Order: sequence, then structure tokens, then C-alpha cells
Amino acid sequence: MADLSVEFCGVKFKNPIVLASGILGVTGDSMAQVVRNGAGGVTTKSLWPHEHLGHANPTIISTQNWMLNAVGIPDGGPEKAAEEIARYRKAVSAPLIANIVGGVMDDYEAIARAVVLMNPDIIEINISCPNVEDELGKPMACSISKSAEVTRRVRSIVGQIPLIVKLSPNVENIVSIAKSVMDAGADGVTAINTVGPGMAIDIDSAQPILANKSGGLSGPAIKPLAVKYVYDIYKNLKCPIVGTGGVLTGRDAIEMMMAGATLVGVGSAVWYRGQDVFGKIVAEMDEWCDANGVKKIQDLIGKVHA
Ligand SMILES: Cc1cc2nc3c(=O)[nH]c(=O)nc-3n(C[C@H](O)[C@H](O)[C@H](O)COP(=O)(O)O)c2cc1C
Repeated sequence: MADLSVEFCGVKFKNPIVLASGILGVTGDSMAQVVRNGAGGVTTKSLWPHEHLGHANPTIISTQNWMLNAVGIPDGGPEKAAEEIARYRKAVSAPLIANIVGGVMDDYEAIARAVVLMNPDIIEINISCPNVEDELGKPMACSISKSAEVTRRVRSIVGQIPLIVKLSPNVENIVSIAKSVMDAGADGVTAINTVGPGMAIDIDSAQPILANKSGGLSGPAIKPLAVKYVYDIYKNLKCPIVGTGGVLTGRDAIEMMMAGATLVGVGSAVWYRGQDVFGKIVAEMDEWCDANGVKKIQDLIGKVHA
């Protein structure tokens, strides 16, 4: 059996598979179940500094190759989040990444202050959701200066807690955005959030299927994009990366690590392979390592660049 543990921004994970934000990361119990199902750690859904309503249903459509979602980041506010994170802590001991979001800079500062009190192992700043553009405008992750500023502001509040920034694939040059957040005080990045937004139309009613009309694209179809962005960021910056996007199998996860990811985010795969997908992926990674004489999975990080 290979050693599947990895260290990410100074935090030890028993394996590289982490729950991506927005999928099952809603309650303490659902996050604890993800760990019992084999994940090395979890990411909460995006947390706001105040209650936030999501979009009307239908919010998700999935096909064999892709998903579109316009959930719209609903949240019950910091008090509720603190309760759920405390429940998670009581149930399991795997690292928790608290994902935070806001509409304006002040929101990010407010939720950063609240989330520090919840003792997360890592804080992830979501500046890259493409399905709230009507409400919030273009994601901050599309601007070098805004990405850097939000990182600087949150860093000044969270002290030494490891800080990562979740990047958008919907930009001209993801490496320059990654560099700007690393220069502004981030310890690492997550690549990528959903792609688009995209649209699916029901031709029988001649209406967009999602109530929001468009939504962020995830699932198997986006994996080659995610792999390329992780590859480019690692090649240029060698920073810690959570590689996320379209990972369904152990082979997919190993591909993401070879591109440069230390942790691998898994989200849409829950729809494709069930809630125990985390353990399935970990078992497949272990099997692949055994078959290929890999003793430590850490040795695979960035291997394609060697
Ligand atoms: C239903 C759904 C809800 C999501 N909600 C969030 C969210 O609240 N915050 C966030 O940063 N990303 C969110 N995402 C993006 C995922 O965390 C991930 O970056 C993206 O889906 C690509 O990974 P995947 O193909 O494994 O799902 C969401 C994705 C889906 C499918």
C-alpha cells in the first residue's frame, strides 16, 4: 500500500482527495459523511457574511458529460456556519477548508473576520463564481488588481491561517491572476471554478432549462481545461494547487497531480458515481500506485514537468 498522505500549505491530509465547495459541504453531518466515505478533507460551501438567497429552481442540469449549475450560492449566514463546522469537528478529525464569498470587498473582510473564529485549517477565497454575474457583475477573479486586493485584505485579517484563492478559468491569462494573488499574500490557489456560464435549451418549450437561464459548467467535459490550467500555474509558479474540475476516477486524480496539484478537488463526481465516490477514487489511486511501484503519492506532484 502506497503512502497517500500529502502536506498542503503546512496542513497534513491522509490522502489528496478533498470535497470541492458547494457539493455536500452544507451541514456538519454531510461533511463528516464525506470524510467517512474516504476523503482526506472537505471544503465548505461558500460562506457569506450574511444570509444569502440562491436562485430559483431548476438550478442544476446534468448529462453524461457535463453539468450546468446556477445554485446561486445560498447561505444561512455565519452563525449557522459556525454551528455546522463545530458539528463537523466533533464528528471527524480531517482538515476543513472554509470557502468564503462576498459581493463587494467589505463582504470578504466581514466573512473573513467571522470565519477566523470558526478555526478552519485553511481559508479559500471564492472570487470566481460565474453564475451570480447578474447580481454581482464580473467575478473579481477576472481582474488582476481586484484579485490581488481581496487577497491582501483577507490576508491582513486571517493572520497565519493558510490562505488559498479559487481561480476562474474564464480569463485571458490564469497564470497572471495566480501570480497576483500569490504576490498579495496567498499560500496557494484552487484551479478551477466552473466554466462559462453556459446554457442548455429545452427545444420543446423553447426555453432555457435553468431558471437563471445560464450556469457554470462542471463535470467530465472540463477536466482537460482544469489539467491545462493546473499545468500552466505549476510550471510558472510552483505554488501549492488544489486541482479541481471533472475528476471522476483515481486515474483522473493522478493526472491532476502530475500536472502539479497537491490536493485534488472532487465535486460533480458525486452525481456520476455516488456519495462514496471519494473512497472509490482513493482506492483506485492506491491500486495504480501499487501497480506502478509508486511508494509515496507526493512524488507524483508535478511529475509531468520533470
Ligand atoms: C452544484 C454546484 C455548486 C457549487 N457551488 C460552489 C460554491 O458554493 N463555491 C465555490 O467556490 N464553488 C462552487 N462550485 C464549483 C466546484 O467547487 C468546482 O470548482 C467545479 O464544479 C469543478 O469541479 P467538478 O467538475 O469536480 O465539479 C459548485 C459546483 C457545483 C456543481
